[in-house]
Amino acid sequence: MQAHEPVLTAELINLLSPKKNGIYIDCTVGAAGHILALLEYCGGCFVIGMDVDPVALKIAEERLSMYKRSVKLIRASYANLKSIVRTLGIDKVDGIIADLGLSSIQLDDPDRGFSFRYDSPLDMRMNPDQTLTAWNVVNEYSEEELYRIIKEYGEEKFARRIARQIVKDRPINTTGELVRVIAKAIPPKSRRSRNRHFATKVFQAIRIEVNKELENLKILLESSHQILKSRGRIAIISFHSLEDRMVKNFFRESPHLKVITKKVVVPSEDEIKRNPRSRSARLRVAERV
Ligand SMILES: C[S@@+](CC[C@H](N)C(=O)[O-])C[C@H]1O[C@@H](n2cnc3c(N)ncnc32)[C@H](O)[C@@H]1O
Repeated sequence: MQAHEPVLTAELINLLSPKKNGIYIDCTVGAAGHILALLEYCGGCFVIGMDVDPVALKIAEERLSMYKRSVKLIRASYANLKSIVRTLGIDKVDGIIADLGLSSIQLDDPDRGFSFRYDSPLDMRMNPDQTLTAWNVVNEYSEEELYRIIKEYGEEKFARRIARQIVKDRPINTTGELVRVIAKAIPPKSRRSRNRHFATKVFQAIRIEVNKELENLKILLESSHQILKSRGRIAIISFHSLEDRMVKNFFRESPHLKVITKKVVVPSEDEIKRNPRSRSARLRVAERV
């Protein structure tokens, strides 16, 4: 399994501009790469870290063992950010980080069904305690619902054909079976001409639906100004255009925020070479006014 390499770390820390004794929230702890960078940068700060995935939190706990007194890790969704901060007796914080999407630990785990590279059960849950899985979406959603998800969340040109093929070939039990169904629905020429694997967009769409990623991001954005101190900053790294558009528009339109990144920040060529998975990362930062 490949260790998760944090993306845009130097840019994130630089633009977050952390204070020595500040309080920060990392909404998406993962393997704690960003938290470690933050703690190394600002010795005296305190970080609240959240993740819905117990496997990620276990790894993070080990990696953060030398910073025990500076970190509080909590298993929770960032959709509940506001109530969690209040429960901890904290009024406002100096900064919020969210590095959306999947970690390499999740993507590379053959049992979790996130990747089309393995033949696994259709799962795709970041939070293993939730009931909705990719199997439910693939086997129980109507053709119309599947079409909407694949079109909207995957921005897949052949969404209609894929949704129809899925419904025709059900039951579909594994990621391998799903890849074969998608292959039947996409014309061979188009399959071959894509830069990425032809199943990428459908897998992305189903994952977004299973984990309610856009709904959660909306709640996070809307609650952020109530948690940030004046001049506190929120930094969000997204990995696909839907999320990035949401973040960009929200930052621009919110009367409570001032945009710090007039232009979106992307990884350097060096970073992409070192860590090809960083290639679609987009960082945007805003400040509470
Ligand atoms: C890209 S990884 C973060 C990597 C991390 N920044 C690092 O440096 O290692 C995203 C993490 O967000 C978590 N996550 C996804 N949705 C979440 C949610 N609604 N609430 C909390 N964590 C979530 C995933 O479980 C995953 O571990």
